[in-house]
Amino acid sequence: MTMEKVTAKIFRYDPTIDAEAHYDTFEVPHDPGMRVLDVLFYIHENLDPSLAFRYCCRRRRCGSCGLMVNGKPVLACMAEAKEKMVLEPSPNLPVIRDLVVETAEYEERIQEIGPFLQRDKPPAKEPEKLFPRDFATVRPLNQCIECFSCMNACPVNGLKWPGFAGPTTLVQLARRLFDPRDGLDRLPDAAQAGFQHCVSCYSCVNACPVEIGVLEGAIEKIREKFVVSKKTGYAKYNEVWKDLVVTNGLVNPSILMRRTSSLGGLLSNMGIGLRFFSKGKISLGSKRLNKISEVRLIAKETGEK
Ligand code: SF4
Ligand code: SF4
Ligand code: FES
Repeated sequence: MTMEKVTAKIFRYDPTIDAEAHYDTFEVPHDPGMRVLDVLFYIHENLDPSLAFRYCCRRRRCGSCGLMVNGKPVLACMAEAKEKMVLEPSPNLPVIRDLVVETAEYEERIQEIGPFLQRDKPPAKEPEKLFPRDFATVRPLNQCIECFSCMNACPVNGLKWPGFAGPTTLVQLARRLFDPRDGLDRLPDAAQAGFQHCVSCYSCVNACPVEIGVLEGAIEKIREKFVVSKKTGYAKYNEVWKDLVVTNGLVNPSILMRRTSSLGGLLSNMGIGLRFFSKGKISLGSKRLNKISEVRLIAKETGEK
């Protein structure tokens, strides 16, 4: 059956006139291939010119049209319009109006890691010879459009975990960390950005509209760099991680936190732990995968790397 109309329930809030947020529902005639952004244009042009939303390029380049559709982060210019949609602004950021949020906090986090190339010596010769093999890690990361969809999807960022700068920041940091021209020791910045708090849940990977592989392409590579460099403190984190995988086949964040934090760290993160627990994101007991024997076999075959 062809879809004739789209019903969009949209978050509305204008702090200059509204005491609190509410939702308005609009019906929009459906066109084949219609995107969420087309629905917003239709509403703005025909039903309610006061609706506020952000966009610029309309072709997955600027990253400005990120929002939530039925609870999932998407780019409005790319996501196909669904028959019934709830449209909401990106979570965890202050709402300026309707679907428009203030992204300054995320932008500041990126600025704090110095996201620009910093050379310690000029190139030996100009033009400088660059080899594709030296940029294999960096090239996909350069595709990041800073849309913050991964920030919106990340459960650790959603909990406002202290010291965790979020996946977009870690991607921007990895772009410089793995750039052979960069002369800075970026590992202290990576620790400062809290790469160790990522729980490898893949939510950021699934949310990224340009499929850059946030976890394997950036965060896991930062972890690997720490292990190879034998930086103290973070080796323990990796050891505990590996032990949990081999023992249970699952990483329970509460156990990970307990075994890698000092007493002071545990106490300061207690509120967050309780929030995790109340949302059902962690349990006190250890669950174990049914096929744990297969995980152990893989660990043995790979030398538990
Ligand atoms: S894999 Fe890590 S960074 Fe990505 S969403 Fe999960 S916790 Fe966040
Ligand atoms: S990594 Fe992907 S989801 Fe995250 S900001 Fe960059 S483009 Fe957006
Ligand atoms: S409008 Fe630019 S990415 Fe959607």
